[in-house]
Amino acid sequence: MSPPAPKKDVDWSALGVALDLPVNGHIETRFHLSTGKWTEPTLVANPNISVNGLCPGLNYGQQCYEGLKAFRTPSDTITIFRPKFHAARMAHSAASVSLPEPSEELFLECLRMAVAHNAEYVPPSGSEACLYIRPVLFGASARLALAPPEEVILAIYVQPSFPYHGSASIDAVVLEDFDRAAPRGMGRYKVGGNYAPVWRHAAKARAMGYGITLHLDSSSRSLIEEFSTSGFMGHKVVNGKDVLVVPETQNAIDSTTSDSMVRMAEREGWMVEKGEVPFSTISSLDEVVAVGTAAAAVPIRSISRLSTSEKYSFSTLENGIPRLVALSRLMAAIQRGEEEDTDGWCWEV
Ligand code: COI
Repeated sequence: MSPPAPKKDVDWSALGVALDLPVNGHIETRFHLSTGKWTEPTLVANPNISVNGLCPGLNYGQQCYEGLKAFRTPSDTITIFRPKFHAARMAHSAASVSLPEPSEELFLECLRMAVAHNAEYVPPSGSEACLYIRPVLFGASARLALAPPEEVILAIYVQPSFPYHGSASIDAVVLEDFDRAAPRGMGRYKVGGNYAPVWRHAAKARAMGYGITLHLDSSSRSLIEEFSTSGFMGHKVVNGKDVLVVPETQNAIDSTTSDSMVRMAEREGWMVEKGEVPFSTISSLDEVVAVGTAAAAVPIRSISRLSTSEKYSFSTLENGIPRLVALSRLMAAIQRGEEEDTDGWCWEV
């Protein structure tokens, strides 16, 4: 049976990100420490969640989250892109802040319910928009002591949305007066604490005309880690061959988009260089994209480092379709069911 058709009164071509569009509801399940069990996931229409103000989710940052996407295919099915990757990443993040890890089975069931109950908010096939899925997990009952609380909530919200930075190319700047992640710290986990501290720096950068900020490693300030909203990916040509350059670091969040592009590049016969990417080698790259679930793949026009007056420019859409953009378009076509999904990445709801 086909899912409900997309809503008629939504302009799918004019969505931003974080619209706060009213939808049918979110899914909630609660974990209780005393029983070690999760409650049956249920649809809740009210987006507000009532929690005790003394809960560790609010007081101590005992929280983690995920971001996934659902698409409507040309054959009118709805699929979620690589949900098992996100289930594993959420479990990893949960453990980092002493939260119970939702099982893969529970996580997938909550995703399925969240999307199925909001199917009319999944944009039409062929649209650039998608249904963004935001699972959030946090310590919800009172506990001022530094210890796990009795109740933890897993809530799965959805919002129809557009790519985070839009689809045009943007200029990046290295963040030099703020370090996001300490060595052996929390940088690799998808926790809120990796995001809010960047806003004021990103706002300053935006006021100077930069669309995105880039983090170098905090100990040597010489290695590329990731953009504030998304992963870093570069391209160069060596002996006539495409080479994908991907920073490997303990301090960046694993990206589904990056992982998918690496696998696709390997299949296309590209070489993949994964390892430390010194900032000093950036001039060898002819293309850079910022890759993430919300961002998709944003072409980076330039990267500036203001303290040394360095500025590097890269190929963007103005000069034809660069190789990384072409690769990301192939991924988008797989996500949307327009190209064959040979890896079984698209999970039908
Ligand atoms: C995502 O890509 O899903 C994120 O969580 C990044 C955030 C800046 C929207």
